[in-house]
Amino acid sequence: MPTPSPVDLIISKRDGGSLSPEDITALIDAYTDGSVPDYQLSAFLMASFLQGFNEEETAALTRAMLHSGTVLDLKHIDGIKVDKHSTGGVGDKVSLILAPVVAACGVPVPMISGRGLGHTGGTLDKLESIPNFRTDLSIATYEQQLKELGIVMIGQTAEIAPADRKLYALRDVTGTVEFIPFIAASIMSKKLAEGIDALVLDVKSGAGAFMKSEDQARTLAETLVSIGEQFGKDTVALMTRMDEPLGRAVGNWPEMHESIACLKNETEGLEDLMEVTLALAGEMLYLGGVAENPAEGKQQAADSIASGAAFDTFVAMVGAQGGDTSVLQMPESRPDTDPVATVEATAEASGYVEAINAYDIGMTAVRMGAGRRVKEDKVDPTAGLVLHKKVGEKAEAGEPLATLYTRKNNVATFQKAILNSYQFSSSPSQRPPMLLGRYTAAGWDE
Ligand code: URA
Repeated sequence: MPTPSPVDLIISKRDGGSLSPEDITALIDAYTDGSVPDYQLSAFLMASFLQGFNEEETAALTRAMLHSGTVLDLKHIDGIKVDKHSTGGVGDKVSLILAPVVAACGVPVPMISGRGLGHTGGTLDKLESIPNFRTDLSIATYEQQLKELGIVMIGQTAEIAPADRKLYALRDVTGTVEFIPFIAASIMSKKLAEGIDALVLDVKSGAGAFMKSEDQARTLAETLVSIGEQFGKDTVALMTRMDEPLGRAVGNWPEMHESIACLKNETEGLEDLMEVTLALAGEMLYLGGVAENPAEGKQQAADSIASGAAFDTFVAMVGAQGGDTSVLQMPESRPDTDPVATVEATAEASGYVEAINAYDIGMTAVRMGAGRRVKEDKVDPTAGLVLHKKVGEKAEAGEPLATLYTRKNNVATFQKAILNSYQFSSSPSQRPPMLLGRYTAAGWDE
């Protein structure tokens, strides 16, 4: 049989057919090397979005994207290498705390992170808010640092899953981002290329997540774990709540500042953030073979913060990657971090905080300079906000709800948007638990 042309594959998908792994590989390879143009792949993406992908097609797409670039081999480094990936949220600074915690407990963490996407923040932008911190290490330096310190945090290099880079940009402008098989293949192709042995996923669900409903988040968790296991990696997914921002800070340096406080064991008022971080750390330490079960791992993680070991590991990593460690010791000394305004509760908007819309807060932070509206935008590392009132807390009229940090002019617009993100009630509501479910190859474990 002759090899099907790109248009044959588009037609087959358009008419509800399933493609073979060989066809998917040929199409992705041809798109990556430029022999299939954007307009044909766009048609293929939309046909797939509308007709769906089966499990075999999703695995084939992941494999094709993974092998479009270098697949790192870290076998020469001792230990079970474990990473974590979040599907993205607002105020999600978990990786900044989690990676040094897990490394301090003896499990090597090779982490390749991304930048902010839409209303969500990215670990890479947060790390770069530390003056001089380098996220563009060569692969050789990445491996060497992992060997020496047990932790390295960098950005995606040109060699890792180049097909994802090209496809992501095309999905972004063709309305085909929110399709679970594409999201799963995109995430897993990058993670599988890192050279890890096991992976923990934080699948977020709620207003501030890409998956707004629990049903969608469940399907995504199941798809991600299934791909991980098919590629021979132990994979665990925790489904966590993302309705209000996680913790209190949103924006790159504000979140780094908050993470430094957590690593110094100053966690009062940050219970939601620590609940998610310690749960994920427990899973990583279990998969990494240093804890008998996730609960024991959670305890080890908490101990590494209390002893100062996790903070020391973070300082060592920042120093090794060229960052200014004095701002970790004294975060107040970082330049350009003066607040510009506060948002206060009013007579009409006061009482018990019932909800804070994380999507709206995330978008406001982006407008304040903390994220990008177009790819070329420069991020202001110190822009963002800190919430003083979270769900379940009481705010009297005149009390501050948030402090703002921005260099943009339209501060009154930001104040209004943040006030509008809050919903109040006359009676207190309890903060719901952060963990919505745990999924492994054995199934859901609520
Ligand atoms: N994160 C990714 O890396 N890819 C997606 O498609 C969505 C979120």
